[in-house]
Amino acid sequence: MASDSVVIEPATAMVLDEVLAIEQACFSAPWTRKMLAAELSGNQFAQFLIAKCPDPRSGALVIAGYFCFWIVFEEVRLMNLAVLPAFRRQGIGRRLVCTALQAGVARGASRAMLEVRASNQEALALYHRLGFRQIAVRSRYYVNPDEDAVLMEMTPLRLGPLCEQP
Ligand SMILES: CC(C)(COP(=O)(O)OP(=O)(O)OC[C@H]1O[C@@H](n2cnc3c(N)ncnc32)[C@H](O)[C@@H]1OP(=O)(O)O)[C@@H](O)C(=O)NCCC(=O)NCCS
Repeated sequence: MASDSVVIEPATAMVLDEVLAIEQACFSAPWTRKMLAAELSGNQFAQFLIAKCPDPRSGALVIAGYFCFWIVFEEVRLMNLAVLPAFRRQGIGRRLVCTALQAGVARGASRAMLEVRASNQEALALYHRLGFRQIAVRSRYYVNPDEDAVLMEMTPLRLGPLCEQP
């Protein structure tokens, strides 16, 4: 897939069903419809991005991934990132996070933070390559299954070389 065929744009409540389907396909303990709806329209700090790209079989534009993040004063907090399995490893996750970091820089944020399951090698690799560093482990932070969280930080907030790729 050509990188310019991916469009990253803000989400609206209209895409709640599609985002819920992605959430359920990607997580063992997915956010519920109510939680997603609250983030989409009831949280003043939350921002939601979707990645649209052509379905390789039909050519129709589909939502392949989404990203929810908060900008809370000086901090960008990465909340939920998911890309459908069929669209992974094509730079969509990277582009979603870079777009959020860019929004944080534009708003004057100075750091970014996230938590990730300790076994999530894909996400850990992505965040490391973007410039995040592990700062702590939160014991048994997650449920279903119970698992530690790795707390990662990027201070100062910056757009590294990975965000310069097309
Ligand atoms: C984590 C996730 C969002 C990554 O999305 P993606 O679109 O496949 O990621 P990208 O293609 O942008 O990957 C960018 C870089 O991250 C790293 N990466 C991503 N997936 C990887 C994998 N399976 N193995 C190793 N490194 C990986 C690589 O460095 C990759 O660059 P490269 O392809 O040039 O080597 C996706 O795997 C996913 O949705 N997983 C399930 C939900 C989840 O775990 N979300 C994160 C919660 S914190």
